[in-house]
Amino acid sequence: MSRVVSEPELVEPVGDFRGHQQAATADIDEELARIVPGTPCGEYLRRFWHPVFMTGELDDLPKAIKILGEELVLFRYGNAGKIGLVHKYCPHRRASLEYGRCEDRGIRCCYHGWLFAPDGEILETPGESADAKPAQEVRDRTRLGAYPVIEFRGLIFAYLGPIESMPKFPIFDTYELPDITMRPYKAPYKCNWIQVLDAIMDPVHTTFLHSQNSHPQFSEGMSELGELKFYERHENHFLGSSTRRVGDNAWVRVNELILPNFTQAGSAFAADGTEQRYFGRSAFTRWVVPVDDENSIAYAWANFGERCDPPEYNTREGCELIEQGEILDRTAEEKQRYPADSEAVEGMGPITTHKGEHLMPTDRGISLYRRRVRRCIRDLADGKPPPQPHCGGTSSIRTYGQDTVLRVPVKSPENDRACLMDVGAKTVDLQFGFEDSDNTDRDNAIIAGLKQLEADAKS
Ligand code: FES
Ligand SMILES: [Fe+2]
Repeated sequence: MSRVVSEPELVEPVGDFRGHQQAATADIDEELARIVPGTPCGEYLRRFWHPVFMTGELDDLPKAIKILGEELVLFRYGNAGKIGLVHKYCPHRRASLEYGRCEDRGIRCCYHGWLFAPDGEILETPGESADAKPAQEVRDRTRLGAYPVIEFRGLIFAYLGPIESMPKFPIFDTYELPDITMRPYKAPYKCNWIQVLDAIMDPVHTTFLHSQNSHPQFSEGMSELGELKFYERHENHFLGSSTRRVGDNAWVRVNELILPNFTQAGSAFAADGTEQRYFGRSAFTRWVVPVDDENSIAYAWANFGERCDPPEYNTREGCELIEQGEILDRTAEEKQRYPADSEAVEGMGPITTHKGEHLMPTDRGISLYRRRVRRCIRDLADGKPPPQPHCGGTSSIRTYGQDTVLRVPVKSPENDRACLMDVGAKTVDLQFGFEDSDNTDRDNAIIAGLKQLEADAKS
């Protein structure tokens, strides 16, 4: 006797399905995304100092690196281990200087022994007789491409622009904080620089990606959605403040971006909104540096000390947690269960499309800064150099990345959002008000002002 197998009832899908309609991928934002030599954004980025390597990873052997789409070689020379940065390919017959020999006066090509000074001068062509005309001519007329470098607190910075436009090496106020320990680290991202940079002007992702989505990746308390406000200063400095209610406290956290790619924020682990804190400073001091159009590296210091993150995070893994809430080396499954910034931004693809986005009011910081980058790129093409970080007569460039937690109990639940907005705005305004004072005076004045805000809230 045959058995009748009943099939489940067929259900025809019903809905406004738009897959086919939206299948074509929108174009990428070429103006912001393309950074290789000769591109307008590439030229803009080449007007600034960028970190390109960590001192601790440069030994006695040359290192091949790629920055802004350029193949380069970094090397030490001389007894004191000074640092040079040159184009990778030897101008004789294109051997890679990665296989060169570091010497007293520069780097010597492995193939026929030409010796180059750190500024690219050809010092020796030993296979040719020194006084022969071709050797003389090549030394007079040709140089290896080379760039100036500065080694500073464990990071190696380079300037890849025209030498006559080289800006002063910027000194930020974070470097002058007393009792700070700055530990260099790097974090590679397999995607375009601008999509990595976006996250700093996006305080909302901290609540979702870093808190609610999987588990708290930074301090507890960040899962609250804060009241947001965005600021633009001096045409190149952008702030995004987020003020959260934590019990009787108002927690003001400020992220910042100085164009083109310098970023700071509040602490990752030192503040959770439960303890009062007055003008705590950034967990990191960080640059998002393009490797090429489809790869970037965040070079940074993680900052430790009473006003930054706690010393127990002063390890390689601790720096990775500060950078993105998870360590970098994880399985595919861990990345799916506990996605961090790498997954959020690399998952968009190597170069995301801005036309395919739907920016919301909470994305205002992103729109603001992208618009300014575009303006700077176009201005430079018209001959106007981009603004460098603003330093108004003080010893260092004033920055605002911070956490402040003030005791400001709820007076009226229905007006609490307005109250938080007000505390956030006053906290940031206090910092603007003292930006021309020296560091100690500025800190003291801001902290006194914050305590006054608490006193006012009591009355
Ligand atoms: S290729 Fe470098 S010296 Fe010949
Ligand atoms: Fe993030």
